[in-house]
Amino acid sequence: MATRPVLSAILVLATVVAAVCAEVTGKAPSLELNDGKKIPQFGLGTWLGFQKAGGPVKPTGTEVKAAVEWAIDAGYRHIDTAYIYDTEGQVGAAIKEKIRQGVVKREDLFVTTKLWNDKHARDAVVPALRESLKKLDLEYVDLYLIHWPIGHYPNITYDDTDYVDTWKGMVEARELGLARSIGVCNFNQEQLERLMASSPVKPAVLQVELNLNLQQPELRAFCKSKGIVMMAYTPFGSLFPDKAAADAPPPRVSDPELKTIADKYKKTVPQIVLRYLVELGVIPIPKSITKKRVEANIDIFDFSLTPEEKAKLKSYDKHYGTIAVKFWASSKDYPFEKN
Ligand SMILES: NC(=O)c1ccc[n+]([C@@H]2O[C@H](COP(=O)([O-])OP(=O)(O)OC[C@H]3O[C@@H](n4cnc5c(N)ncnc54)[C@H](OP(=O)(O)O)[C@@H]3O)[C@@H](O)[C@H]2O)c1
Ligand SMILES: *[C@@H]1O[C@H](CO)[C@@H](O)[C@H](O)[C@H]1NC(C)=O
Repeated sequence: MATRPVLSAILVLATVVAAVCAEVTGKAPSLELNDGKKIPQFGLGTWLGFQKAGGPVKPTGTEVKAAVEWAIDAGYRHIDTAYIYDTEGQVGAAIKEKIRQGVVKREDLFVTTKLWNDKHARDAVVPALRESLKKLDLEYVDLYLIHWPIGHYPNITYDDTDYVDTWKGMVEARELGLARSIGVCNFNQEQLERLMASSPVKPAVLQVELNLNLQQPELRAFCKSKGIVMMAYTPFGSLFPDKAAADAPPPRVSDPELKTIADKYKKTVPQIVLRYLVELGVIPIPKSITKKRVEANIDIFDFSLTPEEKAKLKSYDKHYGTIAVKFWASSKDYPFEKN
């Protein structure tokens, strides 16, 4: 019978194809965007944060490149950067290296960058994206986001350009193929509604702070009803004592109840937090430039939390934001509560 060898040949082929696909798609499953594109439900953040003394941490030139390379090796397929982070060059260099090594192809990766606040003029958007693409050394990004609804000039005077006009520039960037998908960060519900009423092109993604202390239930329900996928920035919130303000609500990483849940699954507390966010249906983008943490953070797709455990995690939601941007509170477009 000739069917046996044929059958086993097909089986071998299927196994090889499955292995190759697993390699290509990475460790995280994908979500579908409202424009038909797909987005991996886990990404690497590349903002280096603020110094204790104030002001942004200055990149040295290699730490983010190394982190992105470890991440791709560990199965990340989604990298989050922004013009203002000053890390686009390193992200691009890491991608180039991993493609050169044959680990991934460009189309396997989902790369996001963001339009800074001083480029809100409608005609400034496409040139700003071209500048980012040059730094990334890429022909397109998978996602381009308006970083804030607030416009201001380099001298910090507010730029009163309506973000509705900025959005027209974003739509043009998409039409030119420079960005496959477009979306926004830090918009509140009212601003999203206004944006959607102004344009036939809906934002595919809303990226906002979302973590245990700020679970954004109303915004999540709204986005779900409109088919907007949410990305969770600062996914650890105030979990780590070195970042938590004195008034930050619990929990910290040493919390005994979280430790018990983590021990049960042979995971760590940060992994439990990230798993919870995935189960909420949002996309966490934890930043780390520490190899072990980069690898551990994405290792959360082999277990799920019970309803009781999720209820416990839900109880930490205190409407408390870790990232305070009060310096823009006087802007007409400030998206958060002012007190
Ligand atoms: N759209 C926006 O306005 C906006 C605003 C903020 C952030 N973001 C994006 O979201 C990303 C993530 O947010 P974030 O950087 O503010 O904060 P985060 O990812 O919640 O926290 C990052 C911090 O946690 C540490 N860390 C990471 N994994 C850890 C682990 N397993 N155990 C212990 N410590 C761990 C990192 O240290 P090491 O690096 O030293 O390992 C770093 O200090 C950013 O990088 C950026 O891409 C966007
Ligand atoms: C800031 O820059 C804008 C745009 O160039 C200009 O119109 C404005 O007058 C400047 N404001 C100050 C205080 O220098």
